[in-house]
Amino acid sequence: MLLRRHRGPARLWVAVAVAALVTGAILLWSSSCIGLLGTYRVQDSVVNELWRTADSDGWRASSAPRTYWPPPPNESESNGYLRVRCNGGLTQQRSAICNAVVVARIMNATLVLPELDTNSFWDDESGFVDIYDVRHFIKTLKYDIRIVMSIPNITAQGKTKKLRAYKIDPPRDAPVTWYRTTALEKIRKYGAIYLTPFSHRLAEEIDDPELQRLRCRVNYHALRFKANIMKTSSDIANKLRSEGHFMSIHLRFELDMLAYAGCFDIFTPKEQEILIKYRKEHFPEKTFVYRERRLIGKCPLTPEEVGLILRAMGFDNTTKIYLASGKIFGGKRFMKPFKAMFPRLENHSLVGTGKPEENTRGLAGSAVDYMVCLLSDIFIPTYDGPSNFANNLMGHRLYYGFQTTITPNRKTLAPIFMDREEGHVSGFEKRVRQVMFNTQFGAPHKRIHPESFYTNSWPECFCQTKARNHADDCPPDNVNDVLESQFQNKRKIYRSGS
Ligand SMILES: *[C@@H]1O[C@H](CO)[C@@H](O)[C@H](O)[C@H]1NC(C)=O
Ligand SMILES: *[C@@H]1O[C@H](CO)[C@@H](O)[C@H](O)[C@H]1NC(C)=O
Ligand SMILES: *[C@@H]1O[C@H](CO)[C@@H](O)[C@H](O)[C@H]1NC(C)=O
Ligand SMILES: *[C@@H]1O[C@H](CO)[C@@H](O)[C@H](O)[C@H]1NC(C)=O
Ligand SMILES: *[C@@H]1O[C@H](CO)[C@@H](O)[C@H](O)[C@H]1NC(C)=O
Repeated sequence: MLLRRHRGPARLWVAVAVAALVTGAILLWSSSCIGLLGTYRVQDSVVNELWRTADSDGWRASSAPRTYWPPPPNESESNGYLRVRCNGGLTQQRSAICNAVVVARIMNATLVLPELDTNSFWDDESGFVDIYDVRHFIKTLKYDIRIVMSIPNITAQGKTKKLRAYKIDPPRDAPVTWYRTTALEKIRKYGAIYLTPFSHRLAEEIDDPELQRLRCRVNYHALRFKANIMKTSSDIANKLRSEGHFMSIHLRFELDMLAYAGCFDIFTPKEQEILIKYRKEHFPEKTFVYRERRLIGKCPLTPEEVGLILRAMGFDNTTKIYLASGKIFGGKRFMKPFKAMFPRLENHSLVGTGKPEENTRGLAGSAVDYMVCLLSDIFIPTYDGPSNFANNLMGHRLYYGFQTTITPNRKTLAPIFMDREEGHVSGFEKRVRQVMFNTQFGAPHKRIHPESFYTNSWPECFCQTKARNHADDCPPDNVNDVLESQFQNKRKIYRSGS
């Protein structure tokens, strides 16, 4: 069964996406729609098909409410102030922000602009206001929650001071009920709570599609990077696209990842020493057998393996590739074989005019990588384990029209690579192709545990024209007007009431 892919509108759609993302004209309530259902059959022209987005079968992204969605509480109705400190890298913090908005909605709380942990990973000071467009964030979520820039002052005994928030370390993946009971009781008692740390502190599976859609509204509409980050990203994407399509690869071949994965044997004794030391300092002790780690798919792909996969799939040396990555561990030695196969390699130093360091380091640097990967025609994560960056991007690309994502199955590929290393080269490419073309390329599919909601928000955040299932019906075109009028009416009631 060979699937059909969209020919004409794909490039146009990407242009629209760039324009929308950069100018801010994001289509919140109805997003363009391209989808695909089916499997691939191995054949040469398939590679050309991969550059395109696919037929939608009537599905399109949509995260507007589909049932009655009352306006958020006003200042006096609010149960209190919610402060959160998001920790981890850029995308882990991004999911935490989405969770914070949902929690504020669940608790009828007023959200204080989330605090980003700036020095946990990267040596930099950026906070929310340095990375995201705050006005856009508040405006986009006005029908959902009330947001303030900082916790208010209170006056007690003639003195003005900041309202103190009661500190709580919420349980990991806390259920909605925890917020409706324990947290609610505290926020009512103290007027404000401070949830810290706040990463993975709300269950991903919530049995309420409206709350899941709110997550998508935050992740895919309200969270927009600041103008300078968007500009750098679109400059890079435009430059790469000037000669045709390009793919992006998230090459997670970095010290922390490799130390975590415990795949040491391919490194020199000196490098192994560094990895083992890092491992000791950051992760629980464990003995690793390289061969076993590899066979269960725990070893990140080496740059050379990524190159071999792409070549086997039929990509040639004219392929333009954007590399999103930190420092490649082992450096040139590992990059050399990859570069020999795919010389047209770029990274975010591509637009280095002015002050490149400003937008290419720390959280802002990750943000640029994130955007360029989002805008690329094909995205390839090389490690989808605890990599929030790759996981969130996969979900984001799905939302932006089921764009092609190639996810190599490391476990299935491992024995094929091992055979090759032992000298059994015949049939290598054919075997790789068989594995690779038997995977999803960004098609809508049911989320199966442990797949994350942030990786796959289908079907909650998608709707289908001529839906077979009523719950998948697209919301009416005037959903925005309805929300606006509810919002205005509520304001009128206060005004006439006061
Ligand atoms: C939040 O407000 C809504 C009304 O808008 C109400 O139905 C709900 O019970 C409130 N929830 C909490 C936790 O206060
Ligand atoms: C709170 O009071 C301090 C001075 O005590 C002032 O600098 C600050 O702007 C006030 N914050 C708010 C949100 O009003
Ligand atoms: C790409 O490969 C072809 C042979 O398939 C070779 O002739 C050409 O020089 C290569 N180009 C680059 C830039 O390496
Ligand atoms: C990015 O590309 C430039 C130029 O090709 C290169 O010098 C630099 O090492 C690359 N940076 C990374 C992190 O790969
Ligand atoms: C908030 O709404 C209530 C009615 O639900 C109203 O009585 C009150 O005056 C409003 N407060 C503000 C500050 O608008």
